[in-house]
Amino acid sequence: MDRKFLIAANWKMNPPPTGFDAPDSPYRAEGAVDVIVLPTFVDLHAAIAAKLLVGAQCGRPEPSGAFTGDVSITQLKTFGCRYVLCGHSERRREHGETDKMVAEQAIATLEAGMHPIVCIGETEEERRAKKERHVIEKQLKNITQLVTRNPQLIIAYEPVWAIGTGKTATPKDAQDMHSFIRSLLPKDQRNATRILYGGSMNAANAEELLKQPDVDGGLIGGASLKPEEFGRIVGIAEKFPE
Ligand code: PGA
Repeated sequence: MDRKFLIAANWKMNPPPTGFDAPDSPYRAEGAVDVIVLPTFVDLHAAIAAKLLVGAQCGRPEPSGAFTGDVSITQLKTFGCRYVLCGHSERRREHGETDKMVAEQAIATLEAGMHPIVCIGETEEERRAKKERHVIEKQLKNITQLVTRNPQLIIAYEPVWAIGTGKTATPKDAQDMHSFIRSLLPKDQRNATRILYGGSMNAANAEELLKQPDVDGGLIGGASLKPEEFGRIVGIAEKFPE
């Protein structure tokens, strides 16, 4: 299989953890696994200066203009970012980002020559109503066609009920959903596209999740703020080169 694991540290609105810039930092990408960090805008510079692989937590598709408080995707590229998170559920909830806006961000990110990490996932209510596949299909509708031209697009399946709650999808449920997501991708990109799992991934559950054939890495929030634990997750990923 030609997919390399990607372990992404989503620091959200927190300062970078102590030692993130040290020579032996667990946040450094080395060897068999890609490791990236997603700091706040104000900490991007420090992470780039530390020579980490860096992404932004969001970005605005328009290159410039009257959008107070926003940072454009082209500005992020110029600054040294390589990845942009698109449509994290916290952005959808707190900033009203819609599927259409998320697709626009993903397009702008691809056009800038960077990797979009498109986040999708159902709420607890939707899962209880057994609508999770329907929700995912809808969220992916504007995205799947982009993959045809752009294998650098990455998808993150993050069930909303698992984010920051300590509840994780079972490895089986994660695998079922990842393989469903893969089946929705155009045939010629199905094998190449990386699909990350996110939602309370930690050092204790990473192995079972990363073992699943369609789980190609993790988007990690809480556990990514603990360098030692994050390093253990990266170590686990290194044991399972895909
Ligand atoms: P969590 O966050 O690991 O704290 O659940 C994941 C995310 O929101 O990306």
